[in-house]
Amino acid sequence: MAFRTLDTVDVAGKRVLLRADLNVPVRDGKITDLTRIERLCPTIRELIGKGAKVIVCSHFDRPKGKRVPEMSLAPMAAALGEVLGQHVRFVEDCTGIAAEQAVELLQPGGVLVLENTRFHAGEEKNDPAFAQGLAKLAQIFVNDAFSAAHRAHASTEGVAHLIPSYAGRLMQAELEALDAALGNPQRPVAAIVGGSKVSTKLELLGNLVGKVDVLVIGGAMANTFLAAQGKSVGKSLQEAEMHNTAREILAQAAKAGCRIVLPTDGVVATEFKPNPPTQTVSVDAIPADTMMLDVGPASVKALIDLLPTLKTLVWNGPLGAFETPPFDAATVALAKAVAAATESGKLRSVAGGGDTVSALRHAGVIDKMSYVSTAGGAFLEWLEGKTLPGVAALEG
Ligand code: 3PG
Repeated sequence: MAFRTLDTVDVAGKRVLLRADLNVPVRDGKITDLTRIERLCPTIRELIGKGAKVIVCSHFDRPKGKRVPEMSLAPMAAALGEVLGQHVRFVEDCTGIAAEQAVELLQPGGVLVLENTRFHAGEEKNDPAFAQGLAKLAQIFVNDAFSAAHRAHASTEGVAHLIPSYAGRLMQAELEALDAALGNPQRPVAAIVGGSKVSTKLELLGNLVGKVDVLVIGGAMANTFLAAQGKSVGKSLQEAEMHNTAREILAQAAKAGCRIVLPTDGVVATEFKPNPPTQTVSVDAIPADTMMLDVGPASVKALIDLLPTLKTLVWNGPLGAFETPPFDAATVALAKAVAAATESGKLRSVAGGGDTVSALRHAGVIDKMSYVSTAGGAFLEWLEGKTLPGVAALEG
C-alpha cells in the first residue's frame, strides 16, 4: 500500500488543513481520555516546526447536521493547547466567513481548531460544496484520522481530492503497523477475535480465515461456535440463528489451512453479576443452568503456549466478560503473556477496537504491545478487508 506522507511535501508558510479525530471520550463535559489528542501531537509539532499554519478539523459525536452546543470542539481545542504547550485558537464554524477570517489571522507555527464538521449536514453527505468550503481554507490537506477513515465524509474523503493530500504521522503509523500485521506479516500469524456476537464480526472472521495461520475465537462468540458443533452451552449467550454461518466459517478455515482454536474449558456461573459463585468446567460438560462467562485456565494455558510459535498476533475483542470480576482473568493472563512475548522481541502484537483497548489498559499492558490502534470502527472494517475511503484518497 503506497500513500503520500509528510516526507514529500514542503509546508513552510503554507496553510495546512489537518483532519484529526478529536472524537474523544467525554463524561459530564470533561474529557476522560486524552490518547487521541496526544497521538496527534507529533504531526502538529512537525508541521509547526516546519513553519506551517495548522488548521485542525474534526467531528465530535453525532450531531446530525445541527449545531449542538454540548458537541462543540471548544473543550478539545483547549485540551490540545495544554498537551501541545502552546496557545491554540478556536473558531465557531468550520467553513464560511468566520473560518476564513480566523485562518487569515494565523501566523506560521500557529494552530487553529475549527468547530465540529458534523454541525453541517454536508459533512456526512460528502457534499462537494461543503468539501470545497473546507478546501478553500488551505493549500495542503493532511489526514491524521485513521479512526475516521472508514467514513466517506467531506472532511475525510471529499476534500482530499480537491487539494494535494498526505497522510499525517499518526495515520502513517497506523497504516504501517496494520500492514505489518496482516498485509505483509511475518508468519506464523494468529488473530484473536473475541466479543459477543458472530453476527457483527462475520465479515471479519471470513476475511481472517483466508489471511491468518491460526484464528482464536473467544468471548461469547465462542459459545455460538461450540453450540454449532453440537455442544450444549447451557444459558450462555449465543446466537442460535448463526450456527450455520459458524459451521461455514469452520469449513472455510479448514479449506484455507487456518487452524481455529476454540476454548476447551470455561468459567461458568448461574448469574451474571460481580463475583458470583463460579465453577470451571469442560466445554463438553457445561451445566444446563449456568452460562460461560470466561474461557477457562486450560484454554488460557494453551493460548499462552501458542505464543512462542508465532511471529505476529492481531487482537480484537476480550476473551470473557472482562468488565465484571472475576471474568477478566483469562483476558488479563493472556494480555500479560502477549506483553512479555512482545517485550522479548519475539512477537509483533497489534491490537485495536474499543473493548480491546479497555481490556489491555485494565491488564496494565497498554504500552507493551507493538502497536495499539486508536481506531474502533475503522480497525474493524480494516480487519474485514475493506478499503477505507479516507485511506484510499491518500494513495498514490
Ligand atoms: C470513532 O470514534 O470510532 C470515530 O471517531 C468515528 O466516529 P463515528 O462512528 O461517529 O463515525
